[in-house]
Amino acid sequence: MTDIILELQNIHRHFIQGGKDLHILKGLDFTMQKGEIVTLVGASGSGKSTLLQIAGLLDGANEGEVVIDGLACAGLSDNKRTRIRRHDVGFIYQFHHLLPEFNAIENVILPQIIAGCSKGHALKKATEILEKLGMGERLDHRPSELSGGEQQRVAIARALVDKPKILLADEPTGNLDEATGNGVMNELLRLSREEGISALIATHNSDLAKKMDRCVSLHNGLLS
Ligand SMILES: Nc1ncnc2c1ncn2[C@@H]1O[C@H](COP(=O)(O)OP(=O)(O)O)[C@@H](O)[C@H]1O
Ligand SMILES: [Mg+2]
Repeated sequence: MTDIILELQNIHRHFIQGGKDLHILKGLDFTMQKGEIVTLVGASGSGKSTLLQIAGLLDGANEGEVVIDGLACAGLSDNKRTRIRRHDVGFIYQFHHLLPEFNAIENVILPQIIAGCSKGHALKKATEILEKLGMGERLDHRPSELSGGEQQRVAIARALVDKPKILLADEPTGNLDEATGNGVMNELLRLSREEGISALIATHNSDLAKKMDRCVSLHNGLLS
């Protein structure tokens, strides 16, 4: 048994662009404990999104290992990586990526139904989490009928409804004004703590960074 939920070991990521080799992550190491909430800061272009995509198995590193809850994932088949990503990882992005033609509750239940959950059970869980996020009166609103903060609350519900082991959030309040962003981030933190979910959150808001357990900074391809 280990208390480590996520481990990145010697991660290298290169992008070849216009014949040039961009070495973005240069042997990066990172360890996150179960239940820990960590902020990730770094200048624009430093590689925060790249790191989160690799940690969540959406992208592969050129070298290095990603260990999720004790399971080394780098050498697994695409099918296995997809399964781990679906079950163990929740993502929230700067832009909500909600489906415009579906309402709030449908946006939350669709991934669950695709993953094989019964509709009744999915509806119950989605209603519960949306209510916890103060969205009980907005269940049948489409994204265009919601404010920016409400849209992000739906995205949070979608990411957390199945209680992932790890939440990866890429500037989740970057598109919101400060007051709305703080409100959304507080909800995100409260819910993650309640559910015991470990989270790695890229943000530019240094006030928010202070509320987390730990802050790591990405610079020159390495964390400090
Ligand atoms: N698919 C890609 N192809 C080429 N270059 C990329 C790709 N993804 C990211 N990059 C480059 O990698 C660097 C880091 O990008 P990113 O991880 O998005 O940084 P951040 O999220 O910190 O702003 C940038 O210089 C970006 O242009
Ligand atoms: Mg980014």
